[in-house]
Amino acid sequence: MQTATTLDVLRTSIAKLRENGARIGLVPTMGALHEGHLTLIRRAREECDSVVASIFVNPTQFGPNEDLDAYPRQLAEDAAMLEAEGCAFLWAPEPQEMYPDGFVTSISVSGVSEGLCGAARPGHFDGVATVVNKLFNQVAPDMAFFGEKDFQQLAVIRAMARDLDLTRPHVHSIVGVPTVRESDGLAMSSRNRYLSEGDRAAATTLPQSMKTAIARIEDGEPVAPVLAALEGELLQAGFASVDYAVLADSASLAPLERLSGSPARLLVAARIGTTRLIDNMAVCA
Ligand code: PAF
Repeated sequence: MQTATTLDVLRTSIAKLRENGARIGLVPTMGALHEGHLTLIRRAREECDSVVASIFVNPTQFGPNEDLDAYPRQLAEDAAMLEAEGCAFLWAPEPQEMYPDGFVTSISVSGVSEGLCGAARPGHFDGVATVVNKLFNQVAPDMAFFGEKDFQQLAVIRAMARDLDLTRPHVHSIVGVPTVRESDGLAMSSRNRYLSEGDRAAATTLPQSMKTAIARIEDGEPVAPVLAALEGELLQAGFASVDYAVLADSASLAPLERLSGSPARLLVAARIGTTRLIDNMAVCA
């Protein structure tokens, strides 16, 4: 596996990868890789000839009181994991390479980025949209792979790519890959490592309560009391607060008071200890 830390090296290497018509798959990450990321790499390998992974802890998507400095960084370990999965290329720029002095541009996607995590983390999705747009321009992949774990992020990236005409000629498709879970159901996340032993045990209530809530909603129970019960269960289990527990339209992410026949999603963000966990699951309409 080759690694580039500068744009010049990236561009030359990508041009070489592409020489004999290879289809390139991009897997953007912030590192601290786990099985969820490796699943994205495997899916990209199935669908493309060469896989490029990026590792960049993007400062512009962290708020002033968020965990940018504490965010886990383990480049050598991540590179070894990528190599073992057959990733062809690692793009690992420093912040100065991505955002040189004088950088003044930001992409803002309205609508899908406004509620849910967008409400709790102002500016977060502007940072995501801007860096992903840059990654698409830098690598010009045929396909790009993102986890459904960050369901709102995926919706924001799809909207940005559609509105800025990024899906032709290069990023032919943006692929959402189902969430990978621990054996007790907790969605894998780089932030799970922050959980104390007790909080990790309690965190399993999140997917369990979501499944119960989904079964009740699918059975036709009114949505609001079911969501209130879900919040109550999380607080009872030791979660400090629930940022949101929302039934939403899968495409627009607009909140739903009842199932309407189109695909729906249950999305939850809740804090336990110092960690904010998010999860989402499909709800059959
Ligand atoms: O999901 C992530 O790891 C990040 O938000 C992404 C898409 C790599 C952009 O920094």
